[in-house]
Amino acid sequence: MADTVVPFVDLGPATRAVSADLLVDLEGLIVAGLFVNGPYVERFESAFAAATGSLYCVGVASGLDALRLALIALDLEPGDEVIVPAMTFIATFEAVVQAGARCVVVDVSGSDLCLDPAGVAASITDRTRCVLPVHLYGQMADIRALAALTASKGIALLEDACQAHGATRDGIRAGIAGTAAAYSFYPSKNLGAMGDAGALVTEDETLAAQVRALRQHGEATRYRSDYVGYTARLDAMQALVLTHKLPHLDGWNRQRGEAAAVYSRELLGVGDLVLPTAVAGADHVWHLYTVRTAKPEALAEFLGARGVATGRHYPQPPHLSAAFRDLHAPDGTFPVAEAVARETLSLPIFPGITEAQLAAVVEATRGFFAGG
Ligand SMILES: Cc1ncc(COP(=O)(O)O)c(C=O)c1O
Repeated sequence: MADTVVPFVDLGPATRAVSADLLVDLEGLIVAGLFVNGPYVERFESAFAAATGSLYCVGVASGLDALRLALIALDLEPGDEVIVPAMTFIATFEAVVQAGARCVVVDVSGSDLCLDPAGVAASITDRTRCVLPVHLYGQMADIRALAALTASKGIALLEDACQAHGATRDGIRAGIAGTAAAYSFYPSKNLGAMGDAGALVTEDETLAAQVRALRQHGEATRYRSDYVGYTARLDAMQALVLTHKLPHLDGWNRQRGEAAAVYSRELLGVGDLVLPTAVAGADHVWHLYTVRTAKPEALAEFLGARGVATGRHYPQPPHLSAAFRDLHAPDGTFPVAEAVARETLSLPIFPGITEAQLAAVVEATRGFFAGG
């Protein structure tokens, strides 16, 4: 057990599940020369729309592009406000600023570490144009409450589902209750490409058409631009990779759930660990298994010395980063998110993680709290 190496993420098992068939199809794509737009991209868009239960899917180059282009399509003006959670990956904030609006930060709820609907209600002003919840670590925010709130005020609801492929809450999938949902297919995501890729799903035909135009120079039709756009298309090779991987998503999410259940059973009551939980009504897809402890860095070092790699998500909330110094939100402004940042440590989790690897993580973690 002691010499079992456990990477934080091993993409090998998922890659091996698709590689033989994928290579055959890739050869077809290369021979056909269909590298940009075209049938490979459309095939994935249809499949992902069906998988998410949405009417439209627009493939783009990254999760950030999906968020940014959706926000640009809302026609935000300087001074317009978008409500974002204080604990997220920085891309959520970047998209708002790059679309020309202002981040209004709201602390996360202690129960699900996602945007707190009560905090959102208290922060809505007459400049609020959009609420942007993040479905953090694989668990959705309270989408029913947020949808009721935004619908009653005529505010857009854009979901950052970059960590939550396949998740539901109260039976609702991302992208259904609100305006749209943005996905990243960064390689280590629950559904990951072999490079960068992303998508927006929505029920709104007009929004889908606008984002489709924005991803390619604002073109409604070739060489007829309605907007100032971008080069932000989903690459055809990545679309093909995703088409091959999508049928495995539910099974891979189940494997993540089984790994999470092992950690939650074996690490219960160990040291000062606070273990992650799924709130009632949430179908958690365990993008990350993130524990909390007073000494995350010491634990990470101890595990690393025993062959167990870990990650921290995220040691610095965006409002405390130099990039967002203009928010003038010093340490102490968002106590729940800041406590998460101080205490968080993510243990290895990925489809195909073996029993021996899980046991090695558990044994090393128990060893740390038993005094080495
Ligand atoms: C919560 C969240 N939002 C946005 C993104 C941005 O996705 P991408 O890296 O594909 O641009 C990520 C990806 O890491 C993410 O985790």
